[in-house]
Amino acid sequence: MKISIAGTGYVGLVTAVCLAEIGHNVTCVDIDEKKIGILNEGRSPIYEPGLEELMVKNKERLTFTTDYKNAYKDTDVIFIAVGTPEKKDGSANLQYVFGVTKQIAESIQQDCIIVVKSTVPVGTNDKVERVLRENLKKDVHVEVASNPEFLSQGTAVKDTLNANRIVIGVETKYAEEVLRKVYDGFGLPYVITDRRSAEMIKYASNDFLALKISYINEIANLCEIVGANIEDVAKGMGMDPRIGDKFLKAGIGYGGSCFPKDTKALNWLANFNDYELKTIKAAIEVNENQKIKLIKKARKYYDNFSGLNVAVLGLTFKPGTDDLREAPSLQNIPILLEDGANIKAWDPVGIENYKKIYPKEIKYCNTIEETIKGADICFIFTEWPEINKFDISLFSKLMKYPLILDGRNCYDLEKVKKAKIIYESVGRNTVN
Ligand code: UGA
Repeated sequence: MKISIAGTGYVGLVTAVCLAEIGHNVTCVDIDEKKIGILNEGRSPIYEPGLEELMVKNKERLTFTTDYKNAYKDTDVIFIAVGTPEKKDGSANLQYVFGVTKQIAESIQQDCIIVVKSTVPVGTNDKVERVLRENLKKDVHVEVASNPEFLSQGTAVKDTLNANRIVIGVETKYAEEVLRKVYDGFGLPYVITDRRSAEMIKYASNDFLALKISYINEIANLCEIVGANIEDVAKGMGMDPRIGDKFLKAGIGYGGSCFPKDTKALNWLANFNDYELKTIKAAIEVNENQKIKLIKKARKYYDNFSGLNVAVLGLTFKPGTDDLREAPSLQNIPILLEDGANIKAWDPVGIENYKKIYPKEIKYCNTIEETIKGADICFIFTEWPEINKFDISLFSKLMKYPLILDGRNCYDLEKVKKAKIIYESVGRNTVN
């Protein structure tokens, strides 16, 4: 089967490599020549565990090109996996989806199924089909299918090869059969539905997870007030299979390229249809406050950060990725800089991207020790394993004043008590 994929971002590239792994020939198309150049050298333009190895292993079945006309002309299935970023009003920006749709319509010369993998508002697949038909240059049979993606950054390859479901939204049996042929090699369970329901499954899933995080974060905030421990509370809740133990980790809020955008987009869609999605609105508001929670806590110790030596551990939106999109660090660091703090920061893979935003304002360090040396305060924004494993007795030995504000509950409170530090975390008592 010959497959083309428009867009070599996380979703497009990981899907391409995993489809090549099960034996398909896949052509990846992107307008970014630099990216295609890197891919043609056998390197991955994104940091994603296992991706480069699988790319190299399947290189005979993978082609990377900017020449969309050639790529789309004689292919059985074309995936659209381009970005749908947030617009100022919260709605999803669909210009890339429709741009690619027009390119496909102008290029295809044989019957073909167009599969929308990008996260798109309900009804978009119908519009894609309309745009396709309006712009077709040849008399060929095309159908559109919705096939949302559920991979997470940092575990994208594993998530794709072992997904818990493959959602396929189709309007005909023929489209279903073609999509089954694409995916049967994975041996995973299917959810077959109509296109609108498939589009909704994606948003409803992401927004439910965002809601779950905001819920546990609110319970954590209340735990702080009434003297309970959120880690124990989450454990006690999570053992009930109706609740489940995943996504109950309290912290300084969700970030990344999906939850913030997808909660706002669904909220926008509801408003557009004169419906108020109260739960999601609340999840968004809770998350915005949660992200700057540590700064509020730190103000109990210092009313401003002018001239203070501030150590920052973790810059990315979560461990396992160099992605900074909607990372809590990006909400907190401007406040610290505005106050006139001297910031030293450490992150195992996020520094190069951070330098593009703050080339001079921050001193970047290679080790945690170097970062915390002489610091008056230390913020933890991302739970990298290196931070979890760090010998906490070094905080009091190396810092000028051992005040730690941990936004990801990296340390066990019993161990913290022996480490002679002042420790504030989320949903747990202060240790001092
Ligand atoms: C998310 C979903 O988990 C994927 O299923 C989905 O396919 C993807 O969005 C997408 O739409 O493309 P991702 O954004 O890569 O994946 O990252 P997650 O692991 O879900 O984490 C999102 C944020 O939630 C992170 O900032 C993380 O720190 C936070 N989080 C997660 C918590 O604060 N607590 C938790 O218990 C779990």
